[in-house]
Amino acid sequence: MAQRTVYLETFGCQMNELDSELVAGQLRALGYSFTTDPERADVVLYNTCSVRERAEQKVWSRLGELRVRKAEQPGLVVGVLGCLAERDGVDLIKRMPVVDIMCGPGELDKLPSLLDNAVRTRESFVADSPADPDPDVGDRVRLRSASQVALQGNTSRRSATLAAAEDSLELLDLSRSISPTDHGGTAYVRITRGCNKFCTYCVVPFTRGAEIHRPPEHIIDECKRLADAGVIEITLLGQTVNHYRFEQDAAVIVNGLTQPQKGRAYSPSSGAGHRADPFRGAGVTTFADLLARIHDEVPAIERLRFVTSYPRDFGDDVLQVIRDHPRICRYLHVPAQTGSDRMLKMMNRGYSVSEYLEFLDRARAFLDQPEIGRPLMVSGDFIVGFPTETDEDFEASVALVRRARYKNSFIFKYSPRPGTVAFDKIPDDVPEEVKRRRNNTLLAAQSAISDEIAREQVGRTFNVMIEGVSKQQLKRHGVSQGEIRRQNAITLTVGGKGIGADVGDCGSGCSPVHGGEAPTAGQATEPSETVQLSGRTDGDLIVFVDAPGATATSMIGRILPVCVTSADKLVMRGSLAGV
Ligand code: 5AD
Ligand code: SF4
Repeated sequence: MAQRTVYLETFGCQMNELDSELVAGQLRALGYSFTTDPERADVVLYNTCSVRERAEQKVWSRLGELRVRKAEQPGLVVGVLGCLAERDGVDLIKRMPVVDIMCGPGELDKLPSLLDNAVRTRESFVADSPADPDPDVGDRVRLRSASQVALQGNTSRRSATLAAAEDSLELLDLSRSISPTDHGGTAYVRITRGCNKFCTYCVVPFTRGAEIHRPPEHIIDECKRLADAGVIEITLLGQTVNHYRFEQDAAVIVNGLTQPQKGRAYSPSSGAGHRADPFRGAGVTTFADLLARIHDEVPAIERLRFVTSYPRDFGDDVLQVIRDHPRICRYLHVPAQTGSDRMLKMMNRGYSVSEYLEFLDRARAFLDQPEIGRPLMVSGDFIVGFPTETDEDFEASVALVRRARYKNSFIFKYSPRPGTVAFDKIPDDVPEEVKRRRNNTLLAAQSAISDEIAREQVGRTFNVMIEGVSKQQLKRHGVSQGEIRRQNAITLTVGGKGIGADVGDCGSGCSPVHGGEAPTAGQATEPSETVQLSGRTDGDLIVFVDAPGATATSMIGRILPVCVTSADKLVMRGSLAGV
C-alpha cells in the first residue's frame, strides 16, 4: 500500500484528545503519516463529540464540505470516530454517503483494520472494480455501499461483547507510543472509562458505556513510561474520576492481562461526605490510594492533576492525600450544573446545593493555602435553560457562581440529546432567547469573579508549567505548537521579518519558518526578539510570560517561577522570576 497521509481533527473533551493520540500512535506505527492540512490528506478522520448539538453540527458541516472534494477525489477515505459514531452510527452513514467508516469510542482498537479495508476498497472503487472487504473486522454492519462500514459496540450497554471490548480497549491504552519530542511535558492518562451516573441530560453513559476502572499497575506503568519520555505533568482522566476503585482480589486476568473492572454503584452511604471509602482495605485501590501511589512511585512527575470530579462521593481521604503530597495540584474541576435544588433533582445529579457547598468548604479547609503560594482553585460546569428552569432557578445558579468563587466556569445552554431521559420525557421549553440571555448573564457573573481572583494573584510568585507559545500568537502567525517545539530558537515571521510578541495583527502575510527547513529567500532566520509563552500555575490559572525567542523553546515543558505582574479579566501576565 502506498503511504497514506491522514488528517485527524478532534472535537470535544480531553478524553477525545487522548483517544485521538492513541489512534494516531497506532496508525503511525503502521506507516501512516499525518498532516495538519486536510487538503493534503488521503484520509480525513473526525473524532467527534455528541454531548451538545453544536459539537455535532460542526462535524456535519465538515462532512458537507467534503462532498465536493470526494467527487473530485474518489480515493479519499472519510472516517467519523467517537461519540457521534456510537450514537448515530448506521443512521448517519446512510444519510451521509461521503463517510466510509464510523467507529465508536469503544471500538477504536479496530480502526487500523477498518481503515486499511476502506483504503483498499476505495482504491478498487477508483479502479472501477469494487473489492470484497476483509470479512474479519469485528461486528460491523455492512451498508449499501461495499466501501462503507460502521462499528458500534461495547459502549451502548446492549452489547454482549462488553468484556472482550474492554480487553481490547485496554490494549489500545497499553499500546500508547510515547514520543519524547511531541508532548510538551504534559500528558493525559485515563484511569476510568464510561459513566454510571445517568444525569438526565447526558449522552455519555450511552456513548462511552458503563464505568470501568483500569488496573492500578497499568496506570502507574503508563505514568512511568511517560515520565521516562520526559513528561513532567500528568492529568488523570475519568468522567467521575473520584469514583476510581479497583479490587485486586476480584481482578480477572485474561491471557496474562489484568482486566479493567466494572465500577460499583455509589449510594449516599458509601463514601459520601466526610468519610473515606468504607470498603477501603487490603486489596482495594481507592482513588486516594491511586493518587498517593502515583505520587510516590513516579517521582519524576512534578505535577499530578485529575478531572473531572463528581461533587458527591468525595471523602476526606482524597483531600488528605492531596494536602500531604506536594506534587498533587491544588485544583478541582467539580461541575455543579445548577444552583437550584429543583433542577438538580430533575437532572438526577444526586446531591443538593447545600451538600455541594459543604464539599467545597471542606475542600477549601483542607487545601486552600495561599500563604504558602498554594491557593485552591476550583472550576465548574453549568447548564442554563434546562427544561422548566425559572428565573428563580437561574438566579440560584448565579448565586452559586458567586458563592463558590470558581476561577472559571464552563457554561452551556441546555441541548436536548436524543436517547437521554430529558429528551424523551421533558419538553425543551425554555426559549432559545432566554437560554442565550441566561448564558450571557452567568458568564458575566463568572467573569467578575475570575477577574477578582486574577487580581488577587498580582505580586505572588507561582511555579508555572510553560506549555508553549500563546494560542493568540500561534494563530497570528499560522504556526502550530508542534512546529514551534521542533524549532531550536523560536522564529516567527511576518512578511519576511523577525518580530516580537508585541507586534499587532499581521493579516494574511504570515509565513512561519519551520525548524530544520532551509530558509526561503527573504525570510528572517534570526530568533524573534520576544515570544509570548503561556503556562499554568498549580491551580490551573493561565499566565502569559514574555521570553526571548532565542531561549524560549528551552523553557517549554518546564516548570519555572513566574511573578504575576498584572491581571485583567481572564488574562494574567507575569515575568520569569530571576530572568
Ligand atoms: N446540554 C448542555 N450541556 C451539557 N453537558 C452535558 N450534556 C449537556 C447537554 N445535553 C455539559 C455538562 C457537562 C459538560 C461536559 O457538558 O455541563 O459537565
Ligand atoms: Fe454525563 Fe452526569 Fe456522567 Fe458527567 S456524571 S458524564 S454529566 S452522566
